[in-house]
Amino acid sequence: MSFRKVNIIILVFAIGVFLLVLHHNFLGLSDLLRREISDSNLVGFQPIDFVPEAPEDLVDEIGDEIPVVIAASEERLGGTIAAINSIYHNTQSNVVFHIVTLNSTADHLRSWLNSAALKNVKHRIVNFNPQLLEGKVKADPDQPDPVKPLTYARFYLPNLVPHANKAVYVDDDVIVQDDILALYNTPLKPGHAAAFSEDCDSTSSRVVVRGAGNQYNYIGFLDYKKERIRKLAMKASTCSFNPGVFVANLTEWKQQNITDQLEKWMRLNTQEELYSRTLAGSAATPPLLIVFYRQHSSIDPMWNVRHLGSSAGKRYSPQFVKAAKLLHWNGHFKPWGRTASYADVWEKWYIPDPTGKFSLIRRHLETSNAT
Ligand SMILES: *[C@@H]1O[C@H](CO)[C@@H](O)[C@H](O)[C@H]1NC(C)=O
Ligand SMILES: *[C@@H]1O[C@H](CO)[C@@H](O)[C@H](O)[C@H]1NC(C)=O
Ligand SMILES: *[C@@H]1O[C@H](CO)[C@@H](O)[C@H](O)[C@H]1NC(C)=O
Repeated sequence: MSFRKVNIIILVFAIGVFLLVLHHNFLGLSDLLRREISDSNLVGFQPIDFVPEAPEDLVDEIGDEIPVVIAASEERLGGTIAAINSIYHNTQSNVVFHIVTLNSTADHLRSWLNSAALKNVKHRIVNFNPQLLEGKVKADPDQPDPVKPLTYARFYLPNLVPHANKAVYVDDDVIVQDDILALYNTPLKPGHAAAFSEDCDSTSSRVVVRGAGNQYNYIGFLDYKKERIRKLAMKASTCSFNPGVFVANLTEWKQQNITDQLEKWMRLNTQEELYSRTLAGSAATPPLLIVFYRQHSSIDPMWNVRHLGSSAGKRYSPQFVKAAKLLHWNGHFKPWGRTASYADVWEKWYIPDPTGKFSLIRRHLETSNAT
């Protein structure tokens, strides 16, 4: 081997090592940056947990991951657990739950998620700081219910799942009976930041019209006597949509500043009372109806079969309930409450609270009847 050849080999080797070191450093740096962004993305959102089984750099593997956002409020924690359990056991996909909760509930939630049935569920607990809502929601003295901060968590979706391009949001009063991948794959039209299920779709229109007044079109949610609402020129008879289950394009959401727009309407409502006085549903609905007016795609109605909680009666046939991909107990009769319809379907996914803080009321009744 000539002297020259050896030199070239040494040179090539040195360049190789140099590139390797550079590559490694670069990756390390981008990793660090990413982690920092996720840790300080916005005041009020602190990821406080990673499941031990999940890799710490979970956020880097966004490719095949399906982010599912769900809220966990102390008094409804059993609902969140059952919903998560149903999604987890019916999917073949890499679902990661982003569970939004208040600081005071985090420990309780964590102990529950440590149950044997849930211990492999990939999740991240995100702390929601209710101070974020200051000046944007007002406690209504006529309303017996206090303001529920977590109701508004969905408005901040890109902050809750900072690295995802797409995410699924579900309420805590749902049960999923099919692979959530199908919901996640709902096509969104160009320019649309979210897909919802319409309140006038064929599966629910009959049942909504009965007993729920105008809660299926815009006039049921917004006060059309107010100048500010009239100026928007939104047709009052427009079919409303249900914001309890949706798919979001977070790129589009950020580009259109959806969060800012929603906050603007929250703030205006505290000053001018723009929501309907008879608003039966969630106070989170009216701002979404305004911001997404004629600007959203639709999800398959079978992915949000709702009103299971509107009354204690049974409105759907057992076959239909079985065929539903997602069952939604919106309304006052929650499946963990004293009176509920289709409670047996929900209970299949319920896991008892290891701390004993949460329990099913009807269980107590049965026990006391039996003794
Ligand atoms: C959460 O609560 C714990 C004690 O319960 C407290 O030490 C901690 O500072 C709180 N964190 C936030 C972000 O409020
Ligand atoms: C989301 O929106 C962005 C920006 O409009 C677009 O490029 C992208 O294709 C959309 N993604 C999906 C999954 O619809
Ligand atoms: C969104 O906000 C950014 C920064 O505040 C602004 O530059 C941009 O024009 C806004 N986009 C829309 C569609 O309002």
